[in-house]
Amino acid sequence: MLSISALARQIKPSATLAAGAMAKQLRAQGIEVYDFSLGEPDFATPRDIAEAAEAAVRAGHTRYTASNGMLELRAALSQRYQTLYGLTYSVEQMVVTCGAKHAISLALAVLCEPGDEVLIPSPFWTSYADMVQLVGAKVKLIPTSFGDRFKLHPDALRAAISPQSRLLILNSPCNPTGIVYSKEELAALGRVVLETPIAVISDEIYESLTFDGRHATCFAALQPELLERTIVVSGASKSYAMTGWRMGWAAGPEHVIQAMGSVQSQQIGCPSSVSQYAALKGVAGDQENVELMRREFEHRRDLVCEHFANLPNVRWHRPEGAFYLLFDVSAYFGQTLHGVAIHNSSAFCQALLAKARVNMVPGSAFGAEGFIRMSFASSRQQIEMGLTALRHFLLNEMLPNGI
Ligand SMILES: Cc1ncc(COP(=O)(O)O)c(C=O)c1O
Repeated sequence: MLSISALARQIKPSATLAAGAMAKQLRAQGIEVYDFSLGEPDFATPRDIAEAAEAAVRAGHTRYTASNGMLELRAALSQRYQTLYGLTYSVEQMVVTCGAKHAISLALAVLCEPGDEVLIPSPFWTSYADMVQLVGAKVKLIPTSFGDRFKLHPDALRAAISPQSRLLILNSPCNPTGIVYSKEELAALGRVVLETPIAVISDEIYESLTFDGRHATCFAALQPELLERTIVVSGASKSYAMTGWRMGWAAGPEHVIQAMGSVQSQQIGCPSSVSQYAALKGVAGDQENVELMRREFEHRRDLVCEHFANLPNVRWHRPEGAFYLLFDVSAYFGQTLHGVAIHNSSAFCQALLAKARVNMVPGSAFGAEGFIRMSFASSRQQIEMGLTALRHFLLNEMLPNGI
């Protein structure tokens, strides 16, 4: 049998993609599932964006582009950062990537030496840890608490930084916690960063999904010195409902971005030309659809919270952005629900899927054992029915689907 490299053996398949695949498999067997596993907007990509892609194909724009992305798209992105955050990035400071995920991988590849520490506040997006391991660096998690709304405290950051620390990954609005850091909170973290030589990857993929009048803060815009230290990552997946188009980007110091472009040129050549034309329409076009989708997510957040207020023995915070709610089910550990012994978050999710046909992701995938992540990127009807089933499941009552 062929052997797998030591580096690859450390890597786990994405827990959220695996949970999503499970729901698809059950549905293919004709079994109805309330699926709250994937962080994927259920909306179709807005029509004007899809039409721009069709037009690009018809016009023959189906060849390799510049490896760091089309100039027009990088110019539109640079304009976007100017308009939204007052930041001046030249087109040489922007790289277009195959999703934000690859932008993060590229940033790690060009900034980390083997053995360097990458600091990650926990709970964290499941892929960060594997991506760090893939470049031979070491993950150093910084725990946060439910009581602090899972926000990293500046003192905890200062205490975690060691001479081996190379990078900090921040993510606001946050997957899986749904929290949004205020400008002041990020500025306080920025001051700690500047006491040290570390760099920051600021994953701002959910920047357009904030609720109750909040606004996302771009970490690089907080202070000119942070602009020199920060790689800002974002993308089209969540804001423009374009997950399958694989369009992301990064902005930062020119030498870092150029190095990311070189690595990308050797790994994938360039991002898809057709997707870049679609993203250009999204980024440069009118943002009405972004706001419509944001509002719908806010309504869903309200609906989810109404249901959660009636769930027994779970702790949770009202999501402030993104489309996730992280809830604590540890009060059920040691109990038997519908004949299944619940001893951890995985057992909880397995029982919830088997008995109530509700699919969520165990907190263990995000460094939050005891918790469960619900994605509310699903229709209001799915939310109503799925959360009603969750309530019956927790109450150990007959389930609505009669299983
Ligand atoms: C926090 C976070 N960052 C990055 C990504 C990756 O997004 P993309 O589809 O642009 O690769 C996701 C997707 O779920 C995410 O939740």
